[in-house]
Amino acid sequence: MTARTSTLCVALAALLAASPALADDNSVTIGMILPMTGPSASTGKQEKAGAELYLQQHGDTVAGKTIVLAVKDDTGAADVTKRLAQDLVANDHAAALMGFGLTPLALAAAPIATEAKVPEIVTAAATASITEKSPFIVRTSFTLPQASAPMAQWALNNGVKKVVTIVTDYGPGVDAEKWFGETFEKGGGTIVERIRAPLKNPDFAPFLQRVADDKPDAVFVFVPSGFGSVFMKQFVERGLDKAGVKLIGTGDVTDDDQLADIGDAALGAVTAHHYSAAHDSPENKAFVAAFEKANAGMRPNFMAVAAYDGMDLVYRALEKTKGDASGPALLAAMKGMSWTSPRGPVSIDPETRDIVQNIYVRKVEKTDGALYNVEFATIPDVKDPYKAGKH
Ligand code: PHB
Repeated sequence: MTARTSTLCVALAALLAASPALADDNSVTIGMILPMTGPSASTGKQEKAGAELYLQQHGDTVAGKTIVLAVKDDTGAADVTKRLAQDLVANDHAAALMGFGLTPLALAAAPIATEAKVPEIVTAAATASITEKSPFIVRTSFTLPQASAPMAQWALNNGVKKVVTIVTDYGPGVDAEKWFGETFEKGGGTIVERIRAPLKNPDFAPFLQRVADDKPDAVFVFVPSGFGSVFMKQFVERGLDKAGVKLIGTGDVTDDDQLADIGDAALGAVTAHHYSAAHDSPENKAFVAAFEKANAGMRPNFMAVAAYDGMDLVYRALEKTKGDASGPALLAAMKGMSWTSPRGPVSIDPETRDIVQNIYVRKVEKTDGALYNVEFATIPDVKDPYKAGKH
């Protein structure tokens, strides 16, 4: 070896030691695919911040492995999601895929997860049937039936008799419409009209005019995270709040990320969901404080907590497998895992690979000058009802 090549070798060794992610057998890559741009960019921003906070708090070493978080922007386009998923498993040897801001994006990655035998941890998308599309899908977000059926039950118990439903016209909206509507009608309520608004560039004004004409007791709404402020502003512009029409829904519409922007128009809205930044537990208080500190005061929403828990699930699974990062071993370790999340107690249903969690009924209130979804009732340990009948 010449002096020159030996200097090169020393330099290369130093480089590898300094960046274990480069060529370290011990590294475990988590490929996180998110919409960082486009109409669901708020989901990407929240999820990335949630995953990074977990890494910051727990360090990048678990069970002797070095965790590498590779965040990729799919811009909300399913063909890009699929290409990124392929690339992450083939070239980066990702041990897990994570993220997926919208249902079609989670579906696009499913065949890759199956073929590569790599867990696909869905931390955002919430159409109930997603987990049936690959035996390697595990979910830490929620399902629309999980939140919509309890909302209907609350409405029935609180004097609401006539409801118009408005949902975004794709998977999760169809789930919300069905599970709210069927539960409400079974309990003796009436759905006056079922309205579906387009996902792309929604203008709710004409639909809200129909609501005004129908004069229901309440409007039940589902819009995906990031679209709540458009809906709420138009609801107030149409004067529906003054007309005494109650606003109920899943918690996506009063998203913690958008509440400040929505403003007082949100006051009094009652929603059912699995996470509120106002959730009263020591774990959540610590989570919210650390998240706000790390992100210039940004408040975490339900997307952030699902990504944080997605990372937690990977760490716990690696501990259980003693560092075996092969897909089938990780998947087996994830099934049945239970832990305390900032949202409360959670577990992964070993049969369906969906998350089992509390659903909270909340009302938007002003506390210390800021708007929050204040939880006032808890339905414990809710399984996805869509799958409950099948298993
Ligand atoms: C979905 O596309 O599955 C989805 C996205 C955002 C939500 C809920 C569901 O808030």
